[in-house]
Amino acid sequence: MDKDVLILAIESSCDETAAAVVKNGRTVLSNVISSQIALHTLYGGVVPEIASRKHIEKINQVITEALEKANVTLQDIDAIGVTYGPGLVGALLVGVAEAKAISYATKKPLIGVHHIEGHVSANYIEHIDLEPPFMCLIVSGGHTHLVVVREYGVYEIVGRTRDDAAGEAFDKVARAIGLGYPGGPKVDKLAREGNKKAISFPRANIEGAPYDFSFSGVKSAVLNHINSCTMKNEEVNRADIAASFQEAVVEALVNKTILAAKDYGMTKVAIAGGVAANSALREAMSEKCNANGLKLYYPSPIYCTDNAAMIGVAAYYEYLNGTRHGLDLNAVPNLKIGQR
Ligand code: KG4
Ligand code: ZN
Repeated sequence: MDKDVLILAIESSCDETAAAVVKNGRTVLSNVISSQIALHTLYGGVVPEIASRKHIEKINQVITEALEKANVTLQDIDAIGVTYGPGLVGALLVGVAEAKAISYATKKPLIGVHHIEGHVSANYIEHIDLEPPFMCLIVSGGHTHLVVVREYGVYEIVGRTRDDAAGEAFDKVARAIGLGYPGGPKVDKLAREGNKKAISFPRANIEGAPYDFSFSGVKSAVLNHINSCTMKNEEVNRADIAASFQEAVVEALVNKTILAAKDYGMTKVAIAGGVAANSALREAMSEKCNANGLKLYYPSPIYCTDNAAMIGVAAYYEYLNGTRHGLDLNAVPNLKIGQR
């Protein structure tokens, strides 16, 4: 049997400092996440400068812990995978510099990973049967994409948001109804107490682009609804707003994903990114996939939001594909999917 391939992965693109050790692309030996959420909550969102400083403080600690939990040393590692974009440049640079230093010191190969390709790859961790091709809906704080995963590491974008990302819409609506940051999980929770049919928010359809999304309209409609209630001295029912807003977003995400999967002849669908942890999305997507004979995959919530295990999985397939980066690897804040 071939020797196991161990990847040490590092992720620092936003507000989590994370390191993981992944074996053969599918087995997570450790997954350490140091979250800065409590710190950024004070400011209602991620403050880039604070994020970078916190990453510097934590990065060595999380890497040491990831190696210890996996019961391996740097000498056992075959390659170092690191997120080099997209994300906050100062935050990314911390992980990239650290990975380069480890690669230089240990003479192990360095593999730069696209953060969103990492999110897609999170699906491989718990679904041993999942292999490309499949249709993947990526919904995070900064991205909303429909992508055909043709092969490991080969992506074809078929749809994208024209304005806000789905997670961004969740975060903005949460702020408008006073739920704070990060809004997604809070809207998800409050929506369970509300009536999703109480308010009819718009579902944007873009002429000639059936797989593209737009969430700025629904976000504005929520703000207008709140203003109009306030002006009329009517009670603002936050749970109904959360449930109705979530319903509008979920309906658009599900319908377009199913349409794209069928049009592209896919039999498998996966969802990825922070919003893939949303309970209403998981439920509605399961129902629609079942009704259309499509097999649905989604990661556990811990692998939906930012983590380094997913970066380790993506790095493994890049390692097999022969991707190697030099010590001139830089952070690329607007890195495109599929760009090397
Ligand atoms: O993937 P992620 O951790 O970071 C980015 O790469 O952006 O996604 C974070 C986003 C945030 O906008 C957060 O509000 C949203 O994912 N999110 C959720 C849920 N959990 C996280 N949105 C809706 N429902 C959730 N349960
Ligand atoms: Zn992310």
